[in-house]
Amino acid sequence: MPTIAVISQKGGSGKTTIALHLAASATQAKQPACVIDTDPQATAAAWGDWRGDFYPLVVTSPPARLAKTIERAHKQDEVDVVVIDTPPHAESAMREAIKAADLVLIPSRPRAFDLHALEAVAEMIEFAGKPAYVVLNAVPAGATRQIEEAKETARKFGLKTCPVSFGERADFHRSSAKGEVAAEIDATGKAAAEAKKLWTWVRKQIS
Ligand SMILES: Nc1ncnc2c1ncn2[C@@H]1O[C@H](COP(=O)(O)OP(=O)(O)O)[C@@H](O)[C@H]1O
Ligand SMILES: [Mg+2]
Repeated sequence: MPTIAVISQKGGSGKTTIALHLAASATQAKQPACVIDTDPQATAAAWGDWRGDFYPLVVTSPPARLAKTIERAHKQDEVDVVVIDTPPHAESAMREAIKAADLVLIPSRPRAFDLHALEAVAEMIEFAGKPAYVVLNAVPAGATRQIEEAKETARKFGLKTCPVSFGERADFHRSSAKGEVAAEIDATGKAAAEAKKLWTWVRKQIS
């Protein structure tokens, strides 16, 4: 089953936001997703609780149990895609997620300190030999130069940048905080469009 890991060293880079929006977009596109939350803070799991029974499914798993949890997700008839959310500053959790993944997404805000943290992740990715892309998140409006600089930094570390990025948008923040995704607040908004575009792009990478 296609498995996407969302990892980064930094907290607040957008791992959970991107994992949940990706899973919800996949589900919306008739590929029901299961999010596996390996972060002890369990933010994605709390989102799942607020949501109730609606897909995407959210389950928690200690990193060491990830392979078993994915196996169990496989046995769920409806689940087509697995998205793994991970904690920050947790090398072993990141390694387990990378190992399980067909595609690795690395959210980063387009700022110097955040981008600098890509170096450690880049080494892990290279070692694992998995396809991986930096996903620029919370990009301020009109930040063309910042985007170019971010891509350049990623390239310097041997990482590719996903052609789809998420802007800094209230819909991402407001929706996640109440068990929803941007499309459920405003289906025609820019945040909803970005989330949909990200899934369309990811689907091409994993098919
Ligand atoms: N693109 C975005 N636009 C606006 N707010 C965002 C965006 N991405 C993340 N946030 C907000 O930033 C905070 C951290 O994001 P989160 O996804 O929890 O990061 P992580 O899981 O990497 O720690 C959350 O409050 C979230 O709602
Ligand atoms: Mg998180």
